[in-house]
Amino acid sequence: MRIHRLFIAAAAILAIASCTPVGGNTDAVIERKVEQLLVEMTLEEKLGQMNQLSPWDYDDLAEKVRRGEVGSILNCTDPEQVNRIQRVAVEESRLGIPLIVARDVIHGYKTIFPIPLGQAASFNPEIVEKGARVAAVEASSDGIRWTFAPMIDVSRDARWGRIAESLGEDPYLTSVLGVAMIRGFQGDSLDDSTSVAACAKHFVAYGASEGGRDYNSTYIPERQLRDVYLPPFKAAVDAGCATFMTSFNDNDGVPSTANRFVLRDILRDEWDFDGMVVSDWTSVSEMINHGFCADAKDAAEKAVNAGVDMDMVSEAYIRNLALSVEEGKVPMKVIDDAVRNILRLKFRMGLFDNPYVDMSREDMTYVPAHLETARKAVEQSVILLKNDAGTLPLGDRIRTIAVVGPMADAPYEQMGTWTFDGEREHTVTPLAALREMYGDRVRIIYEPALAYTRDKSQAGIARAVNAARRADAVIAFVGEEAILSGEAHSLANVELQGAQKQLLRAVAATGRPLVTVVMAGRPLVLTDEADVSDALLFAFHPGTMGGPAIADILLGKVNPSGKTPVTFPRMAGQVPVYYGQKSTGRPALSEEMLVDEIPVEAGQTSIGCRSFYLDAGSTPLYPFGYGLSYTTFEYSGLMLSSDTYGMDDDITVTFNLSNSGPCEGTEIVQLYVRDLVGSVTRPVKELKAFRRVTLGSGETQAVSFNLPVRDLAFWGMDMTYGVEPGAFTLWVGPDSATGLSADFTVVKR
Ligand code: BGC
Repeated sequence: MRIHRLFIAAAAILAIASCTPVGGNTDAVIERKVEQLLVEMTLEEKLGQMNQLSPWDYDDLAEKVRRGEVGSILNCTDPEQVNRIQRVAVEESRLGIPLIVARDVIHGYKTIFPIPLGQAASFNPEIVEKGARVAAVEASSDGIRWTFAPMIDVSRDARWGRIAESLGEDPYLTSVLGVAMIRGFQGDSLDDSTSVAACAKHFVAYGASEGGRDYNSTYIPERQLRDVYLPPFKAAVDAGCATFMTSFNDNDGVPSTANRFVLRDILRDEWDFDGMVVSDWTSVSEMINHGFCADAKDAAEKAVNAGVDMDMVSEAYIRNLALSVEEGKVPMKVIDDAVRNILRLKFRMGLFDNPYVDMSREDMTYVPAHLETARKAVEQSVILLKNDAGTLPLGDRIRTIAVVGPMADAPYEQMGTWTFDGEREHTVTPLAALREMYGDRVRIIYEPALAYTRDKSQAGIARAVNAARRADAVIAFVGEEAILSGEAHSLANVELQGAQKQLLRAVAATGRPLVTVVMAGRPLVLTDEADVSDALLFAFHPGTMGGPAIADILLGKVNPSGKTPVTFPRMAGQVPVYYGQKSTGRPALSEEMLVDEIPVEAGQTSIGCRSFYLDAGSTPLYPFGYGLSYTTFEYSGLMLSSDTYGMDDDITVTFNLSNSGPCEGTEIVQLYVRDLVGSVTRPVKELKAFRRVTLGSGETQAVSFNLPVRDLAFWGMDMTYGVEPGAFTLWVGPDSATGLSADFTVVKR
């Protein structure tokens, strides 16, 4: 870090000495401007920069801004109001430092995209990046220049409501897609007026909240932290992510907002991050509730000393740190470094040159190109989990469809969690889309049966059954209302709520083909639903354009290609269940005797001593990476470039992928490895690469991956990061549970 700063200072001198015109804000120029400003600032003004507020009273806010007591605001989405407050900051405060205006733009601003977990099912960084770009263009037109996304907490617990906001259970997939979001938000340059600074959150291990209960403690040891939870954050730093947010949890007793080890030792010193760190909402003062700080002053001291630059909303910094500095509890250098990080960001964002929203800018919300991108994102994120006897797509012989279920026409609910700004009037539901797009081809009888997903009344089910009897097929739209997932919305029971199960059973009993479409914020337990349905589609909360995309999938215009970004449990009690688990000393056998098969008075060891549940076995309902298509794919001819590799080599993996089915389709091919023996135990599989491959019916393509041996590194027994020589197995295939395999060895040459 120090070397980096010295280098920048030297570069600044060189640039000036050689009379290079320094028009733009190069790193060196910015560092010089930051230092110039810093010497002008009083301690109070510095603390003002470190204070972020979510205003209700704009006159009061204006006063505070005028006095230099605010560095950033969140949740103001009226561009005129943004400009008014910004004008006070720039023209009426002593130093004229602009504010950064922030908002949670998590999966779209006005045009709502599938929830992040849904986007992750696309395994497509390109569509994820485009989605974030659309969000940035729309949000910045209202003056929002900083978003609190991407959320890159590796999430392995269906009970945790915030799994909806995550990119799933896998560190590699999360890293690739997190970087894509950062690129989309930040664009080519942070100072472009359509760019929105990204925020990697929540740092760190929040996804492991004990029991899946939000805000709960975590117990992640350093090795697992480094192997599983930190990699997406490291990738975010490498991608130039402008800011980081601390998490609410305490890990092994230390709240993240005061965790010097992750905030300073890892983030700043190891990774050389020179962006800005913000706390989560009141997470500074919440350290009192944690029982980690005596009062707000103590909390402010611990947070700032640990490396939190900006205090979101708790006002613990602005109210206390002047005294702390005077008392010597917080060194002035700590304050200066925090302010440097904040000012550097403001210069990088070009806020000093262009602080205002351009009110003459064209309204870009819901423009056709944005809606089209959102629709593509849905098309690629819907997962076909079951399709018996080619139930889907609905063919020409289906003339009448009974549409049932509480999610068929729920414009608000299908937007999902974290949609402050999306408007239901712009949302197209599946019912509306089916009627509009396919109304001339199929007759639709609509009987929702339930008013909302938690509705326990079974009074309407008879009407739905009656509709089913009059139809050639039934499409049941079930799932979760938006409020059932997201922050603070954890569930202990992750099955369908209300009378949805009864509804499905009743319409299935008519014998009509039953297509169940689930829209939800988490990987629900769908064991019963899979049993009674002929076809099962999982659409997450698909957002504004859910309807048209789902209608096209149902009727066969679009072939589904999504794959599960997270394991779907068979029973909630299996959670946490994820593919990258350890083997244990007694791994389950493929056929274990389950509870109903065990003889009465069976002997203690008669069912073996293996690692599984007597009532749920050892496998999930759907493994990570799983998803069907209307066509079929065959894998063959797996070859590795060698059977032995040195540490600096690349492994070239080739195989053939054939589309052996009736139509064009896209397969997400996946590459996994297992390190068979390590100085510490290793996961049974780790995703190392993936790609979407589109093939016409009957087409075969040679697919190849280049896997550098260095990508096999992990944190070994002595806590050093590296590849350990030895034997490995590699798989290529359609999901984490099946595929072709080959062995290879890594040697030290
Ligand atoms: C959430 C963050 C969010 C922040 C600001 C907090 O409650 O944990 O993810 O960015 O609020 O709205």
